[in-house]
Amino acid sequence: MAEFDLVVANGTVIDGTGGPPVRADVAISGERIVAIGAGLGRARQTIDASGLVVSPGFIDVHTHDDSAVLNDPKMTAKISQGVTTVIVGNCGISLAPIAPLDPPAPLTLLGEREMYRFPTMRSYVDAVREAAPSINVGVLVGHTTLRLAVMDDLTRAATQAEANEMRALLEDSLAAGAIGFSTGLYYKPANAANLEEVVAIAAAMHEHGGIYTTHMRNEHEGVMDSLRETFATARQAQVPVVVSHHKCAGPDNWGRTKDTLPYIAASQKDQKIGLDAYPYVAGSTVLDADWVDERIRTMVTWSTPFPEMVGRDLSDIAAEWGVSQKDAARRLVPAGAVYFQMQEDDVRRVLSFPSTMIGSDGLQRDNHPHPRLWGTFPRVLGHYVREVGLFPLETAIHKMTGLSAATFNLKDRGTIRNGAFADLVVFDPATVADAATFEAPLQKSRGISHVLVNGAIGFRNGEVAARAGQIVARA
Ligand code: ZN
Ligand code: CU
Repeated sequence: MAEFDLVVANGTVIDGTGGPPVRADVAISGERIVAIGAGLGRARQTIDASGLVVSPGFIDVHTHDDSAVLNDPKMTAKISQGVTTVIVGNCGISLAPIAPLDPPAPLTLLGEREMYRFPTMRSYVDAVREAAPSINVGVLVGHTTLRLAVMDDLTRAATQAEANEMRALLEDSLAAGAIGFSTGLYYKPANAANLEEVVAIAAAMHEHGGIYTTHMRNEHEGVMDSLRETFATARQAQVPVVVSHHKCAGPDNWGRTKDTLPYIAASQKDQKIGLDAYPYVAGSTVLDADWVDERIRTMVTWSTPFPEMVGRDLSDIAAEWGVSQKDAARRLVPAGAVYFQMQEDDVRRVLSFPSTMIGSDGLQRDNHPHPRLWGTFPRVLGHYVREVGLFPLETAIHKMTGLSAATFNLKDRGTIRNGAFADLVVFDPATVADAATFEAPLQKSRGISHVLVNGAIGFRNGEVAARAGQIVARA
């Protein structure tokens, strides 16, 4: 009689805590890890991980996969990197809870009207379960979505009554399984919100649990003020906070992570603060003429009126049309773009910061997406750990697993220990690498051998093999 359902044998286990690698077998029964040690007993099935690393499945803490988990539940872009959990609903944008509408930017990052069909968080969570994605899903409620659901005029801050209504929607969503609340104060539909509005809503989580994540009001010249606003908001609401995709954007701000990171570290003495980042010098979001900066390269990722321009630089398109880049952007919208707005030294400093988690911020709707969608996690392991030597492999794994689960308070995820869900990645540390590039972004990464999700083999031989994802719960 087999003692276990599955044993991952002879691998080098990096458990996600940041601790050193250990040679061990990992045994699984049902959805859970049930034993870790040398020479474990017989199993119905064995994966030989000789020469390979066995780590917890990667947690992509910053995604916009809200629609993708429904429309493309294989989630190949993510599971092929070793990702076993995605957190959706970031940057203030979620599909629920809101009545059907023609979404304004940036809600268009998730699709058009046909995607906005979830008047309650319960209905969205049920739809995710029914779609059965290959990976687990943690859901945040977007502030911009709540504003659109409740307010008739987005150019002002919410009244007390409106804030109360949004808070009630957040509470209802938390009860339906959401794990937190996100804002995108940078974006126009949320920009008029003040600190009082966000505090009034987020304070619901002081009572009911949950995390606040924010795409801050300003990541350019106002980045320090925005950090102050973010921390004041979280202190007043008495909730933990995550600064999304931390960066110092625009040539005038390059190098300023030398100021932001020490300020964040000092503030962490008084409150719980996390960060996420992706390993690239370019960001990506909707295209907006107001954000076009001719000093940096901008590349078009989707365009409704001009799909033939996708994948080309805005400067080329503007030259071809004989107009300025801003005017070209005005013609191309609704559209998305990649903005080469960061400096490599800043990216490395942010990635190295002890409380920075890895989050892709990949955009699934884009026809020619930023390569972070398919490459983020292997790029950290291959480029930044093996080639650059930015930090040890166990530190990188911690930033993708144990740290992420602890920061987002995910129940029984993120580390290899008895009783935890069997979300595991088996990969080759000598070859793991991203293949997606800005020119050819739709490429599976290399070196990912097996991915297990809740005890099932979800990815092997380069293909999705099972769809065993669940909605993740708060601890
Ligand atoms: Zn964002
Ligand atoms: Cu985002």
